[in-house]
Amino acid sequence: VPVPVVAVPEPVLPAAVPAPAPASAPMVTPVVALRPTGVAAMDWDELRAAVSSCRACTLCERRKQTVFGVGHPQAQWMLIGEAPGEQEDLQGEPFVGKAGQLLDNMLRAVGLTRSEAPAHEQVYIANVLKCRPPQNRNPEPQEVAQCEPYLLRQIALVQPKLILAMGRFAVQSLLKTGEPIGRLRGRVHEVQGVPVVVTYHPAYLLRNPLDKARSWEDLCLAREVMAGKLR
Ligand code: URA
Repeated sequence: VPVPVVAVPEPVLPAAVPAPAPASAPMVTPVVALRPTGVAAMDWDELRAAVSSCRACTLCERRKQTVFGVGHPQAQWMLIGEAPGEQEDLQGEPFVGKAGQLLDNMLRAVGLTRSEAPAHEQVYIANVLKCRPPQNRNPEPQEVAQCEPYLLRQIALVQPKLILAMGRFAVQSLLKTGEPIGRLRGRVHEVQGVPVVVTYHPAYLLRNPLDKARSWEDLCLAREVMAGKLR
């Protein structure tokens, strides 16, 4: 029996819809997906999981792992840096490279540590960005904007008595200002009700050791704030 041949016109796809991938194409995870909602209400476990699976900016493409933070979850001192570098990306912990060694020495000088200790001695350290920018380039504004809710939630969960913001990016993105560090040092700022003291980034101090004296002044200011002498 002859089968009637009916000409079926090719469906016309709207221009914006990409052609479907051939069946043999490998599965590709979308590079940029929406950041999970509800970050501001997450507990530590939820926040850690949200960060480790985050694909809200293109930094997720090249990271070895996310770098969440380290230290006491109820620390009195919270230190905030810029973004993971090569060593941090490999080890999954903030400030483990050369700058981190300097930071550990500075902390030791004021009786603090990142290692296991009571909450008044053990700090909490986090970065503005949780993923390494390629070649350690400066963070882009949209990367900072995507990552910021995670840091704000970390601050809310730790509820530190003091934040030490280290380096231009941490300082300017936390304080929402374009002013240089030199103009922001020496006084007490505030984020989410927490006093903030501003200082140089340890990596900057490695390149400019003469400014270590100024960073010591900043640590002394931070100690005075902690002692309740200043607010
Ligand atoms: N620089 C930062 O700002 N953070 C790190 O974790 C390492 C280097």
